[in-house]
Amino acid sequence: MKLISPSILSADFTKLGEQLNLLMLAGMKYVHVDVMDGHFVPNITIGPMICRAVKRAVPEAKMDVHLMIENPGDYIEVFAETCPEIIYVHAEAEPHLDRVLGQIRQMGVRTGVVLNPATPLCFLEEVLPIVDAVLLMSVNPGFGGQSFIPYCLEKIGRLNALRADGGFSFIIAVDGGVTGENISQIALAGANLIVAGSAVFKGEPDKNFRELTQILNRTR
Ligand code: DX5
Ligand code: ZN
Repeated sequence: MKLISPSILSADFTKLGEQLNLLMLAGMKYVHVDVMDGHFVPNITIGPMICRAVKRAVPEAKMDVHLMIENPGDYIEVFAETCPEIIYVHAEAEPHLDRVLGQIRQMGVRTGVVLNPATPLCFLEEVLPIVDAVLLMSVNPGFGGQSFIPYCLEKIGRLNALRADGGFSFIIAVDGGVTGENISQIALAGANLIVAGSAVFKGEPDKNFRELTQILNRTR
């Protein structure tokens, strides 16, 4: 599986439903929602209300919810009730990762862990057998429209090797600074689910999505 998950962080919120429906027509299967609390990251964005609205607008799209918040365990239930496919929790934000992954699973949602660019893969060693998705940040989280940090490419490759060596089947997701120029390399390094915010929503979202998908399909 190699899919693009458009991040609504860069959407036009006055036309969110309209833009999401156009993306569905262009073949969108996943939609990425960035939840920021102004503490774990220096920005405040979306809460469960918008997740519910996204699900109402495009119920067929699988929603992957990226929690960039402190104490994520306090909010699993409320976000799980918005019917996401995956909830990702930052390893840096949660000392009791095992417990929180258990909470996500118990709510019937797929478990995801996120690492910041500077956090080493060994942080994940113990939980790799129990995660459904690993999201590697390729920018410092907090804002859309930043540039891909080059050393993250090699990190995707190392995670891909760890997955193969361990016989695991978790999704490798990548988030931040994805463009038409680097999406092929990111996919070739082993990413399955590629988050793109500004590259999709800047200009004409459906046209951009189709172009990125074409590049991705040629990469396979
Ligand atoms: C950044 C967010 C990303 C962001 C990506 O903290 O997690 O999902 O929307 O935006 P682009 O694709 O513009 O880097
Ligand atoms: Zn994100």
